[in-house]
Parts: sequence; structure tokens; C-alpha cells
Amino acid sequence: MAKTGSALFTTHVDIPAGKREAMIAALNARLADTADLASQVKQSHWNVKGPEFMQLHLLFDELYGRLLEHVDLIAERATALGGKAMGTARMAAANSELPELPQDISLGMDYVRALVERYGLLATRIRAAIDVAAEHGDADTADVFTEISRALDKDLWFLEAHLQA
Ligand SMILES: [Fe+2]
Repeated sequence: MAKTGSALFTTHVDIPAGKREAMIAALNARLADTADLASQVKQSHWNVKGPEFMQLHLLFDELYGRLLEHVDLIAERATALGGKAMGTARMAAANSELPELPQDISLGMDYVRALVERYGLLATRIRAAIDVAAEHGDADTADVFTEISRALDKDLWFLEAHLQA
């Protein structure tokens, strides 16, 4: 379970403190996963080898850029709710629920398989977070998670298409 940071800041956002706290915890948990995955995708961009090198090198950088946008969206929803975003590399490493990227791989399709597994795990958790936000009556946090969920599903397709032929 991700740390929520320090106490809530006061805000005129009219969502009760208890619900804001629950949303900030959910946001920081997924912030850790998303920042972790971003670093794993960049690691893949640097280290991938094999005949598909160039297109995967470029694709992984495109995916990385989108993950950074998701990180910013999640972090700034947590702060908009009066919370503290917990997004340093150490915080992400401590709180991420994703497995580390294997270090004994080098071929393109091995990286694709590893990233497919991790995108799948993150997509599942983000989708679950949509429901948690909706149950708390926070349509805006649900919308943040929904936007990210749709983008993750699309990027999962970009990755899985390499394996589906
Ligand atoms: Fe690069």
C-alpha cells in the first residue's frame, strides 16, 4: 500500500476529507506503478537488441513519453485534492506493485513480452481504480483513471501486435 504523504492541505474542493484521502492513496499507489513502468520502458529503449532494434527503440521511447504524461496527470490530481504526490524514483521503487524488468534479456521480443506483462498488470490496476473512484463519488478522479486506462489499452495493443501474428 502506497504511503499517502503528509496530512491533507485545506482546499475548496468540496469532496469530504475522508474521500479525498482515499483518492490520494489510490492515486499515489498508481503513481508509483506508472513511474516504475516508465523507467522500465526507458531501460528497454536503451538496451533492446536484435533485428527489430530500431523500430522497438523508437516505439519504447514513444511509450515512455505517454507514461510520463500519465504520471503527471495522476500526481496533479493528488495535489488538486489537497494531497502530496509521492513520485520520486525511491518512492516509486518502494511503493510499486510491478515486478522489476528482467535483466537477463536482450532480444526485442523478450522485451516486448516483459512489457506486455507489466502493461497488463498496470492496466488491470488502473481499471480497478476507476471503480474505486466512482464508488467514492469522485467522477473527476475516475475520469483521470479512465483516460489513462484507454491509453494503456491502446499501447498494450501496440506491444501485443508484435506477438499476435
Ligand atoms: Fe533515447
